[in-house]
Order: sequence, then C-alpha cells, then structure tokens
Amino acid sequence: MSHSTPPPDLAPVSIEKMAAGGDGIGHLPDGRVVFVNGGLPGETVQARIVMSKRDFARAVVADVLEASPHRVAPPCPQVANGCGGCGWQHISPEAQLTWKIDIVADALRRTAKLPDAVVRAGGAVGPWAYRSGMRLAVAADGRVGLRAGASHRIVTLDACPVALPDLAALLPELRVEGADEVSLRVGIASGEATAFAHADRAQLTGLPAHVGIGPAAVLHETVAGRSLQVSAASFFQSGPEAAELLVAAVRHACGDALGSVSRGSPLLDAYGGCGLFASALGVPAAVIVESSPSACADARVNAPEAAVVESLFERWAATPAHLVVADPARAGLGRSAVEVLSATGAARVVLVSCDPVSLARDTMLLAEHGYRHDGSTVLDLFPHTPHVEVVTVFDR
Ligand SMILES: C[S@@+](CC[C@H](N)C(=O)[O-])C[C@H]1O[C@@H](n2cnc3c(N)ncnc32)[C@H](O)[C@@H]1O
Repeated sequence: MSHSTPPPDLAPVSIEKMAAGGDGIGHLPDGRVVFVNGGLPGETVQARIVMSKRDFARAVVADVLEASPHRVAPPCPQVANGCGGCGWQHISPEAQLTWKIDIVADALRRTAKLPDAVVRAGGAVGPWAYRSGMRLAVAADGRVGLRAGASHRIVTLDACPVALPDLAALLPELRVEGADEVSLRVGIASGEATAFAHADRAQLTGLPAHVGIGPAAVLHETVAGRSLQVSAASFFQSGPEAAELLVAAVRHACGDALGSVSRGSPLLDAYGGCGLFASALGVPAAVIVESSPSACADARVNAPEAAVVESLFERWAATPAHLVVADPARAGLGRSAVEVLSATGAARVVLVSCDPVSLARDTMLLAEHGYRHDGSTVLDLFPHTPHVEVVTVFDR
C-alpha cells in the first residue's frame, strides 16, 4: 500500500462547524456527513471512522493535520485516562461559548426555520471549580468516579478541577457499597453537604460527619440573596454561580412583565424544582408546577408566597398566569406541555432550555400557539462540556 493512501477506516476531513452534542461536522470524500469526536471548526483532521451508515458516519480524530488556534492541551490529567466528564477540555474557554451560540443559532435556523433568530451571548461561570453537585458512578472497589466517554468503564477520581474545592475534597475517601451511583452536593453559602446513593440499602463510608446522608438530607444555598433549601433528591443547578447567572438572565428576559405580576395574575414557574425562580425573582405571587415530591417539599419552604402543585406539567389543569418561566428537562416541553402553557393565557413565556434541538422543536410548537421567538441568550453554565443553557423570550 502506498504511504499516500490512508487505510479504509481513515479519511481526511475539514471540520465545518460544531454539532449539538459537541462533535465537529464535516464531509467524507464520498459526500456523506461525518460527526467527528474531538474535531474543531476550521481544522483538517485525519478521522478514524467508528460507525458507518448509509447517510452519515461517526468518527474520532486520529490525527490533527491543521489545528484550530482554539485547540489547547486538556489541563486535567483524567482526560487522558478517558474520563467522560468533560468532552471539551481541548477547546479554549473563550471559544466554547462562541461555539455554543453557533450550535443554538444553527438549531433555530435548521429545525425551527428561523434564519435570522437573535441569539446572543449571556454570561459564563468561571471555567474551573464551578460545580457544587455531581452524580458519580461507583467502581467495583467502592471508589467513585465518572464513566469513560461512550463506555461503562469508570475512571475513579481523587480530584476534579471543575468541582468546587468543598465537593472535590469528598472524593478521595468516599467508599460506596451496594449502589451503582451516588450524588454529592455541597452548599457553598452554608458549608453543608449531602450524599445520596441511588439504591435502598447502600452503605457510604469515608465522609466527614457534617455530610447529611440519604435522599431527604438537606443543605442550604444562597441565590440572589435568598437562602434556598435543597434536598439531596431534588434538582439544583450546576453550582451557585450558575444559579445566580441563570436567575439574572431569566429576570432580564421577564422584563417589565415581572412588575405586573400580582395575586390575580401570578408568575407560573413551570418545572419549578425547589422554587429557584419563584423565590429568587421575588414575585408577590406564583404557582410552581413540579413533579418531584422532594423538590415540591423544598419549594414550599423556599417560596412561601407560591402555590406549589405536585404534578406532571403536561397533566396540570392550567390556571391563568401573567408570565411563565418554564425550565423543562432535556426533552423540552413537547406538544402537550405547550398546549397547557398556552392555556394559561400568558403573554410572555421565558423558556429555559438545556438542549438546542428541543429548544428549536419547542419554538415551532409555541409558534403554532401564536408565541413569537423574541431572542435567545446562551449561557455557559458547564464549561469544558458541550452542554448549553439557553434563555429564550416568546411573546404573543
Ligand atoms: C431543569 S430542572 C429545573 C428546576 C428549577 N427550575 C431550577 O432551576 O432549579 C427540571 C425540573 O423539572 C422537573 N420535571 C421533570 N419532568 C417534569 C414534568 N413532566 N412535569 C413537571 N416537572 C417535571 C424535575 O423534577 C426538575 O425539578
């Protein structure tokens, strides 16, 4: 074989843009689209094909032929061990937010058919030591870590540079028996901590005495000057800095509508979790709809002025609302939830999305109910990962 002919599973690929999910997109010499894990826009790479379908292929970077100026050596040594926690450590932090904005604009252009949608940069948390909570996998020897990318192998961790120091300090001594996963969280404002194994009869050892153990253990975090109770089994944002940025972006997106919220025209905090928005926005009246019993219990403490309804949002019998903030899980709202949301009669909907494709799908569904996309703000609450967070205003 000549040196100039690459083996059949290797192909040179120019990376054109980033895909949702964080792979670079290019074309194979035969014209098929290829998603290249580790490839950056503007680069030419030697791609190793790992999956080949009729219409597209998946590949990994075997060699970088022309590097992007935004390519950096991953600072964390666990990346070389295969840790799947951070998929974007090979990208400079400044470029990460830019490419997240491009991913969102592309999803709105292609899926929602909005070529001129306004998509702007919001804030970003500091690139290191930002996480106050992590869901970890348990290895056979009881140590905790994260799964390797696209694998069940567990990379055990004694340190983690994206974890806040109080959280990272819990990793080396913790041993877990009888569970495959454990969630750890620290309260930065309170110094409290919780640990929650995802199994009934798990044993956790090696944690300091102040760590509350079990799904009902609580800690407190302060966001926008409000102290929030967060149970171990409830959702919380990636850390307090992320929660502050998100609340500020949602406040800005609500705009003047926030000032007209009243008892007769409340804020609807849909998928409200522990009541972060209803509490931190400081509204006089709110309805929180949330499916997790644990989060509802927290919300009743955190937002005493709100009515908390424990329900799947798509099954909730809508009541009138002046303004809606909706923060669904990755799948987005979907058709049924958009119908419920529209039935509230709210003139403004602020949608918090953590997946660009479900944002684009929800944008189309909201348009069917007369809600016009009025600008998206992209935040980086998970540096070194391709995870996006988008706050979008819809008006009708
Ligand atoms: C992304 S979190 C947002 C929580 C909260 N807004 C916050 O920022 O902390 C989504 C929340 O929706 C809840 N949830 C998931 N599916 C739901 C559904 N179908 N109906 C109502 N709540 C749901 C989850 O329990 C979780 O608390």
